[in-house]
Amino acid sequence: RTRVLTGITTTGTPHLGNYAGALRPAICESRQDNVDAFFFLADYHALIKCDDPARVARSRLEIAATWLAAGLDTERVTFYRQSDIPEIPELSWILTCMTPKGLMNRAHAYKAMVDQNTAKGIEVDDGVTMGLYSYPILMAADILMFNANIVPVGKDQVQHLEMARDIAQRFNHHYGQGKDYFVLPDVKVDEEVATLPGLDGRKMSKSYGNTIPLFEGGRQALKTAIARIQTDSKLPGEPKETEGSHLFTLYKAFASIEQTAQFKKALEEGLAWGQAKEELFTLLDNLLSPMRERYESLIAKPQEIEDILQAGAVKARRYATPFIQTIREAVGLRQST
Ligand code: TYM
Repeated sequence: RTRVLTGITTTGTPHLGNYAGALRPAICESRQDNVDAFFFLADYHALIKCDDPARVARSRLEIAATWLAAGLDTERVTFYRQSDIPEIPELSWILTCMTPKGLMNRAHAYKAMVDQNTAKGIEVDDGVTMGLYSYPILMAADILMFNANIVPVGKDQVQHLEMARDIAQRFNHHYGQGKDYFVLPDVKVDEEVATLPGLDGRKMSKSYGNTIPLFEGGRQALKTAIARIQTDSKLPGEPKETEGSHLFTLYKAFASIEQTAQFKKALEEGLAWGQAKEELFTLLDNLLSPMRERYESLIAKPQEIEDILQAGAVKARRYATPFIQTIREAVGLRQST
């Protein structure tokens, strides 16, 4: 059987980028025969970016409700919260002890901070916590803990997957003596989407404040966000370029091939940007409305979500508890029995 695993960090409100890059492909995979799916809330990762307890708690609820509203079937999928699985930080520590510092020096998130600080002329590591620095090791532990074969993510996570493979390989090589403790995970990026652009054309990201929320704020928030998508200044009637238009890219990510072809033709024939935004709104609202209804009813029942997560943790630990024992034995912390 193939094991598919992915997680979302519980900071901020889930957005269209999370949906197209992770939720949609992951849920699609989980419905296939012969697939065991592990989907989780990366709440330890959230602490790296956010030190406001109320925001972390709210985001956890929103992201859990989003997974469920998007069609995750808790009967088939092991759906859990990272912080309910103490074996994950334990594995993370064991992996930390064998990960070269040089590998972490190359991580994009860390390098971006260093570059920013250098540009400002301040101390390179200013504002860099050890959490941010070793973030990819915790992510490797998330994946290797469950020996995932396939990890569906957006393009921004590809480097982290390469690091997870690298770490797994080192462990197998050193402690394995012919035995592979960890499966090498394969990344799966939906090339049609890869990186969904935000309102300003940069990657849609919580940290850029350029997101289109999936459900929060309802239809009105969706409409308001779409109205803010930046376009060029071509007037109604003038032919529009679809190449490089992020409004078009957003449409394409959620439309059928026929709908996309029609939309492209209309733009090339001079469809006004205002009208184009109306069409994008209709497309997204039709897609999201049924899920939004489920989301709104779920978010009103935090206890129900908590119960689902607790049950998921029990399922996940059925695998994690014996596996961490094997890893403890491998490194010499326990005697094999
Ligand atoms: P996070 O929470 O930033 O994003 C969750 C998922 O959404 C994808 N994504 C996008 N995809 C396409 N276009 C975009 N604009 C866009 N923005 C976000 C991300 O690629 C990701 O798949 N470190 C991870 C969470 C994590 C994880 C893991 C993922 C922790 N452990 C283990 C997989 C396996 C993160 O911060 O994703």
